[in-house]
Amino acid sequence: MSKKVRQTNTGSSPIPSELHSNLRGFVDRVGGLMHALNWLKGEYGYIDSSWIPTIAETFNISQAEVRGVISFYHDFKLEPPATHTIKICQAEACQSLGARKLTKDIEAKFGTNLGSRTSNNQVELEAIYCLGLCAVGPSVQVDDRLIARATPDSISLSTE
Ligand code: FES
Repeated sequence: MSKKVRQTNTGSSPIPSELHSNLRGFVDRVGGLMHALNWLKGEYGYIDSSWIPTIAETFNISQAEVRGVISFYHDFKLEPPATHTIKICQAEACQSLGARKLTKDIEAKFGTNLGSRTSNNQVELEAIYCLGLCAVGPSVQVDDRLIARATPDSISLSTE
């Protein structure tokens, strides 16, 4: 499946040109809506609000139901992601290993706060509640890369 997008006539948000036909493949699957939303996330990095009517129509559910699922799962976003996402574990084990100070240091290093992104859209800082590295915290995930015993100096952005 391609990442083709086109602009609407109003020039607002992009619409995948084959959205409806791509989504139809998920309709008869168990948990089809979740599979479809995960597919959209993987293809586009987010789920544009303008796609919700098509999603609802395809699955024969209300737009409110689609929005409810999207808002329930933190990983589904309604806006394009920043270039880099830094997830900092805020759960108890990491807090006991310095996650609060690490969070402050990372906020200072990148010039934005947890839950926000830089004005140039390069870095977004997110809270996460366990990355499975509890014994070697504080733990951070930079894009797809996990970092144990994280320090401000160990947090770098890939330039790929
Ligand atoms: S509590 Fe932070 S990785 Fe588990």
